[in-house]
Amino acid sequence: MAMKPKLLVTRRLPPAVTERLQGDYDAIVNPDDHIMTPDEIVAKAQGHDALLVTPADKINAALIERLPATVKMIATFSVGYEHIDLEACKQRKLPVSNTPDVLTAATADITLLLMLGAARRAYEGERAVREANWKSWSTTYMLGVHVTGKRLGIFGMGRIGQAVAKRARAFDMAVHYSNRRRLPHDLEEGAIFHKDPEDLLAHSDFFSINAPASAETQRWLNAERIAKLPNGAVVINTARGALVDDAALIAALKSGKLFAAGLDVYEGEPNLNPAYRELTNVFLLPHLGSATVETRNAMGFKALDNLDAFFAGQPLLDRVA
Ligand code: DGY
Repeated sequence: MAMKPKLLVTRRLPPAVTERLQGDYDAIVNPDDHIMTPDEIVAKAQGHDALLVTPADKINAALIERLPATVKMIATFSVGYEHIDLEACKQRKLPVSNTPDVLTAATADITLLLMLGAARRAYEGERAVREANWKSWSTTYMLGVHVTGKRLGIFGMGRIGQAVAKRARAFDMAVHYSNRRRLPHDLEEGAIFHKDPEDLLAHSDFFSINAPASAETQRWLNAERIAKLPNGAVVINTARGALVDDAALIAALKSGKLFAAGLDVYEGEPNLNPAYRELTNVFLLPHLGSATVETRNAMGFKALDNLDAFFAGQPLLDRVA
């Protein structure tokens, strides 16, 4: 019987994914789910053929250089791949795959949850009920802002941005967007394209960040750009924390320039800027965009499909390097 490829899995995986991988691979898994240090990854990778990593692992150039020569592929359990130095992988001729498509719906769903949660003061309301601080129904108690019929600006109209737009149409929102390329007419479905993302800001009662992290988008939403949003706008981020200048966003939430924000991702997460925790007008989630049983299984299976293709000598299905 042919030897199974040896796989180092850096984090615990969903049970169904673990079951499949244990049938097909000789795998080191991580049942206690600790974050492996670079030294641990290098040590455990000795004699292994591939790595299955997650966004919590920083696979930088220094680590890639130290990987044993036996490692021939890296699969990430994520659509985002900014945690992997793709240039260093290319130089080492180390192919890398990701998991697009399968998390689009879950991430778009949670974008709407954040929009509604932030606009309708879900955190404050929940807390008031739990802490027995809710005194009575009142005409002026805990008023939020309307979502239905407002303008939604989507920064980054890829798969997830388009899925957010589709859901927003159910709320009669007018969708505006910016993207590196304008979408073909049939995919726009009436969304208004802004070639210059700076122009999108003034049209965004709700501003949803759906673009990948890159050098170009690093802290894109800064004080100058927040100033261009309508007064009382709501900012939503389900992409990556690195796209937001936290100090600027916090200042705008404190000053009332912004009504609220809904955030699922943070620069330096899980160590987010502590000032967020003090604000009642920010609805915070711990990077749950793709966190459904169905989606996480699908992501794991997609990562394995890519590894299977590689070890069968086939082209990767989702190659990013
Ligand atoms: C990804 O896949 O990049 C997501 O952020 C995980 O939810």
